[in-house]
Amino acid sequence: MSGIPYVYAPPVASVRDEPFDRLERFYDAVPRDGAHTEDFGGLVLFVRDGAGWPFYARPRLDATDPPSAADVTAVRQRQRDLGLPEAFEWVHENHPDLLAVARSAGLAVLEAPLMVLDPAALPPPGDFATTTPVRILDPQAPTFAADVAARRAVAAVGFAAPGTEVGTAGPAARDTALVELPVDSLDEERTRTAAGRRISAVVELPGQGAVASGMALRVAEVAEIAGIATLPTARRRGLGAAVTAALARRLLDDGTNLIFLSAGSEEIARVYLRVGFRRIGTACIAEPAPVG
Ligand SMILES: CC(C)(COP(=O)(O)OP(=O)(O)OC[C@H]1O[C@@H](n2cnc3c(N)ncnc32)[C@H](O)[C@@H]1OP(=O)(O)O)[C@@H](O)C(=O)NCCC(=O)NCCS
Repeated sequence: MSGIPYVYAPPVASVRDEPFDRLERFYDAVPRDGAHTEDFGGLVLFVRDGAGWPFYARPRLDATDPPSAADVTAVRQRQRDLGLPEAFEWVHENHPDLLAVARSAGLAVLEAPLMVLDPAALPPPGDFATTTPVRILDPQAPTFAADVAARRAVAAVGFAAPGTEVGTAGPAARDTALVELPVDSLDEERTRTAAGRRISAVVELPGQGAVASGMALRVAEVAEIAGIATLPTARRRGLGAAVTAALARRLLDDGTNLIFLSAGSEEIARVYLRVGFRRIGTACIAEPAPVG
């Protein structure tokens, strides 16, 4: 256990296609500036330093053997000891045996469509929600703290109502979910945003404030779009697609040449399909299977 030097070696049983190798390195790199690592056989657990969303465990880049059920069990024990969620993520095509191994070790695995942007298929600006521009957050703006809090509150309410259907939770629910950011979280958001490693976007409607939001995490020329959410009252009018498209466009303008995301379900994948994302594989997201 403890921090290991970052040495890249392609994963065992990798499909060695360039995008899959780049994704593997991205997933390994993205937590490293905010976490230390603990190794458990073929798995590495990222333990966040400081406040913020906890990270996952995933296959080790430099492992010589694929992760075993015993490795999964050891990581789960460590996550429980640290008070962390028992969360695991990996790309199925890079670690095809891990699905069965994880299930045998008591995990429930979501097989999420893994999608990559075809830049030629990204619709021109204004194609979605023409009257409601997407605002990319500016880390220097005096409103940045409030903007990030709004982005997070929209996500909290949006993800509490899974699926794509319209619902009753709207701006009042978002305001109830608003939490003032701790200073270290805000500093982290500002630093990463200023460095181009995080991009946040919101859509505001007149008289309602922020109703849709999302973000991107970037490492060099690879970026993941994540956390796309629309308040249930504002769904099915193109806002989720508009936020995704605006983030993708900004990333392309900034020189990112591999933009990907994992869709929570096939129906959500349709939203991203219209933005120009195409399925290339499966992202596995695992947590303990319900007991009983
Ligand atoms: C997924 C989510 C972000 C989509 O947000 P949204 O703003 O409703 O997305 P869109 O409006 O762009 O697309 C949703 C549907 O509305 C349709 N739609 C878009 N504009 C429309 C319009 N003007 N009139 C009628 N329907 C419209 C789309 O065609 C799409 O239909 P489909 O389900 O048949 O494919 C939202 O449902 C959500 O927050 N879900 C919970 C959180 C979540 O799972 N996020 C994604 C994680 S990967």
